[in-house]
Amino acid sequence: MKAPGDLVIENIKIVTPIGNEALKGEAMDHLKVIQDGCIVIEKGIITYAGKKDSLPSSATISNFPRVNGRGNVALPGFVDSHTHLIFGGFRPDEFEWRLKGDTYMSIMERGGGIQSTVNATKEATKDELVRKAKWFLQSMSKMGVTTVEAKSGYGLDIDTELKMLEAISCLQNDPDVGIEIIPTFLGAHAVPVDYKDDAAGYVDFIIKNLHLFKGKAKFCDVFCEKNVFEIEDSRRLLEAAAKEGFKIKLHADEIVQLGGAELSAELGATSADHLLHVSDEGIHRMAKAGVVATLLPLTAFALREPYAPARKFIDNGCAVALATDLNPGSCFSGSIPLTIALACIYMNMTIEETITALTLNGAAALDMAEVTGSLEKGKRGDVILLESDNYKVLPYYVGMNCVSMTIAQGNIL
Ligand code: NIG
Ligand code: FE
Repeated sequence: MKAPGDLVIENIKIVTPIGNEALKGEAMDHLKVIQDGCIVIEKGIITYAGKKDSLPSSATISNFPRVNGRGNVALPGFVDSHTHLIFGGFRPDEFEWRLKGDTYMSIMERGGGIQSTVNATKEATKDELVRKAKWFLQSMSKMGVTTVEAKSGYGLDIDTELKMLEAISCLQNDPDVGIEIIPTFLGAHAVPVDYKDDAAGYVDFIIKNLHLFKGKAKFCDVFCEKNVFEIEDSRRLLEAAAKEGFKIKLHADEIVQLGGAELSAELGATSADHLLHVSDEGIHRMAKAGVVATLLPLTAFALREPYAPARKFIDNGCAVALATDLNPGSCFSGSIPLTIALACIYMNMTIEETITALTLNGAAALDMAEVTGSLEKGKRGDVILLESDNYKVLPYYVGMNCVSMTIAQGNIL
């Protein structure tokens, strides 16, 4: 990251959710709008966000660099809270097989899918992984992303999982990278070949070695899925991870309805993600337990699967976040504009709910709602400017980027 900066952003319309925690249900629809606004960022932190007229005059800020927003909308930087952006190789052949009728799981059962990226990631050097990820991070920052989560999970052995997390650490320390990266340990992403038909044995192996990943990743995640890591193995792993001090997440109910949502509520996970096939009971329990439902419409789109029931989650009082799931297999896209369009057009989320889901609730899905996700005093200076004075253009620009400037911790990227 660059050192946090000072900045005054003038002549803007501020549009933001408000608060230091996830907005649930109906509250997701409420954004604060401030006309003739101004934001002051000092050493990377917002010290003022409000009407230009009410800005107290101060000698210090008169020397700060200034941005003229020309009356356009300022939103909080987007938080992409679910990605697999570190990986070796690519899988365009699989994409074509799916176009011709193969399914995601049938390819995985033949030894392709995640395992094929595992092979390529084992071969890649750390520097190669870093270089590749940097390109994705640059394109994400142009679409307004200021915080991104990145998972391991293409190693499935100690050395390669550590190599992936070290690549993330290099990116975090790189002054050319302006986006904050939150690392997640996803050692339980697939059952590796040497543990064929022994998911439980592999989970024992991970649990025994969890301490090696402690301090290198904030979250521990698992692909909780039929014929991958089913409920018992997922529960054992996540309970052990929580004991080691990891916060926990799950890939839940993505391909079939297995009860991953219910498990996330039982364990008090920070988020459960995907949820295309979630049960009604799972939705209720997540709402009650305050687990963020992270929905990934680009994956449903790319796999030709039904979209997750966003309306049911929101109407039952759950907090919904949206993220891209960028990965080389099920969803090779980090497109924030398309995520927004799909959420509004196919998941029937309002434009306001969609903004909350990609900002404050995305931050909450990373346990960072007190740090970023809204434009308020005390939050980080993560701000984006749109090329419009109307935030409602976001889904209207289908798949097109209308972010004209991304500012992370007070630095223009
Ligand atoms: O979130 N489903 C598990 N993991 C990823 C896909 C990873 C891959 O196909 O490489 C997902 O969809
Ligand atoms: Fe994923």
